[in-house]
Amino acid sequence: MKNRRYNTEKFWDRAAPGYDNAEASDSHKHELVFDTLKKYMLPADKVLDLGCGTGLMASRIAGHVQQVTGIDISSQMIRKAQERALQNSLTNTHFLKADVFDEKLSHHSFECITANYLLHLLPDLQAVLQRADHLLKPGGYFMATTPCMKEKPLLLLTLKGLSKIKLAPDITGFSLPGLKRTLTRANWQMVECLKLSESDPEYLTIMKKIGT
Ligand SMILES: C[S@@+](CC[C@H](N)C(=O)[O-])C[C@H]1O[C@@H](n2cnc3c(N)ncnc32)[C@H](O)[C@@H]1O
Repeated sequence: MKNRRYNTEKFWDRAAPGYDNAEASDSHKHELVFDTLKKYMLPADKVLDLGCGTGLMASRIAGHVQQVTGIDISSQMIRKAQERALQNSLTNTHFLKADVFDEKLSHHSFECITANYLLHLLPDLQAVLQRADHLLKPGGYFMATTPCMKEKPLLLLTLKGLSKIKLAPDITGFSLPGLKRTLTRANWQMVECLKLSESDPEYLTIMKKIGT
């Protein structure tokens, strides 16, 4: 597991310099995700962005809430996120090289947790969701954008092949029903599930934490 984590960090460190260009290539999806996330956020909210990458989404969210903490295991992604915050004179963002189990994050401290293009990359998703549940306040939201690659079996096969030769990260090929089953916990209820485009199997799922 330690080796896999090291490889993952290195992969995303290498991807960081060109990441914004690739990301900006689909501004329609980015806007749709941003507009949907925003609907669930209030000005007093504290938001945690898991796998924040270069902080593109976190920096935009920061204009609408009290505080955004972005965490990522790649130091190069975090460096870019910090540069972006500085360039935009943001004073309510914190970007940390960390994962969701980092002890600096306290229980029940966030109204919203976002995870865009991350869940399919995690080797122990159940443990991450359990931890996210601890970090969320009751009534809070867990919002994730996730590719469901089982809908594109040939592409999934290609990506699996590329990951074997370290040209792509290891991924889980979700189906939409499988993703929904994984996210639905005793105290999480799905409040929205949005397909982001006709051609790509990417979904934004919003889960509400009910009870404690
Ligand atoms: C596909 S990128 C998505 C970045 C950003 N959320 C976005 O939507 O542009 C995935 C990010 O997740 C990070 N990542 C992968 N595994 C992680 C983990 N276990 N904990 C935190 N970040 C992780 C990677 O370093 C990378 O920056």
